[in-house]
Amino acid sequence: MKNTFIDFLNLGMQPLANSYIQNKNINKKERKYKLIIRFNENNKLVSIKNTFSSKDMFNDEYPYRSSTSKTMSHHLKQLAQNIKKTKPKKILEIGSNDGCFIRNFNRKKTIGIEPCSNVEKITKKLKYNTYPEYWSPKLATKILKKHKKVNIIFSSNTISHIKNLNEVFKGINIILDDKGLFIIEDPSLLECLKKNTYDQFYNEHIYIFSYLSLSNALRKHNLEIFKIEELKIHGGSNRYFIKKIKNNIKLHKSVNLHKYKEEKYGLNNLKTYFNFAKRVKKSKNKLLSIFKNCKKNNKKVIGYGATAKSVTILNYCHIDNSMIDYFIDTTFDKQNKYTPGTKIPIKKYSDLINDKVDYVFLGAWNFKKEIFNKEKKYIMNGGKFIIHTPYPKIISK
Ligand code: TYD
Repeated sequence: MKNTFIDFLNLGMQPLANSYIQNKNINKKERKYKLIIRFNENNKLVSIKNTFSSKDMFNDEYPYRSSTSKTMSHHLKQLAQNIKKTKPKKILEIGSNDGCFIRNFNRKKTIGIEPCSNVEKITKKLKYNTYPEYWSPKLATKILKKHKKVNIIFSSNTISHIKNLNEVFKGINIILDDKGLFIIEDPSLLECLKKNTYDQFYNEHIYIFSYLSLSNALRKHNLEIFKIEELKIHGGSNRYFIKKIKNNIKLHKSVNLHKYKEEKYGLNNLKTYFNFAKRVKKSKNKLLSIFKNCKKNNKKVIGYGATAKSVTILNYCHIDNSMIDYFIDTTFDKQNKYTPGTKIPIKKYSDLINDKVDYVFLGAWNFKKEIFNKEKKYIMNGGKFIIHTPYPKIISK
């Protein structure tokens, strides 16, 4: 099939999202790239144009930890409990991070793949079977020799980070039992467009999948989606249940229902993407005007959650350390560093009231519920938040 890529959104020059700056490197030139989003009219895949190698992005300095959010831990625990009911013999996770998912299982039952060795060490120490390697057919063959075929392959927010999808799915076919399930979770393109969350695009998110595009990519490898669960996590994700085509599990009605929603919204049509780009430009102007107003009125604004997503927003909208005093973040590896590109200091979590904060920019808007629960005191005292989705505004609850 011929590839026909059409660029529809330019998010400007961006640094690598998870490359938080150390104090000693603050004046060093950062590596930047043009963040352009494109649509492939043939296979309906939405992707970023300029990509980096996995080694550039996922190495032994990777700061992200899945377990830092209670919401995420709870979410993965629930899935693990459901999987346990099916009594699988072996479960493999691609992108096991700090073990947030596999830690819910008996050590003997799981295999974790985590190329960021600083994160992989956490589960290795706990005696989990983990490989500090990138997922590939070669690795699948190596694991097959040692462990035989697996019943479940799970991957959360990882497959969309790997450029060569053909290699990913080749590996799946090698190690997955013919009756086994491949379950993946990734941000939903439909929700991203509906909520104007353009910050889902950054160097690590090479693809934002729709059912339409993912099913095309899987079909080439005799794999198909037989069930979809629409999830609230990360601002709207899909959990795709995938099987080998030769395994005749009945197609669940959720598949056609989701497909219908995507087609109705226009995910098949280029025009939908150009309309999204127009909304993103409007969103930028509105957000910037909110920040400029805060500055004009000498308000103290801080950021909450120095997310990879907020790197896209801040750099695209040119919101820097003159507009946000500092970010707070519970991730140890981000603390005492600076946000990429915009150089806003990141501090460890602190009390919003004692710090006399007027406005909090929600970098981790996808955990709004969890954060609002935690910050009841700040909210009761009239504390306000700045959020960019579905459109930029100031909210107080
Ligand atoms: P997340 O939205 O998962 O990811 P990404 O970086 O991929 O965009 O990151 C959430 C960040 O927010 C993470 O750095 C931890 C931080 N955080 C807090 O500091 N406090 C909180 O209460 C929560 C829920 C998250």
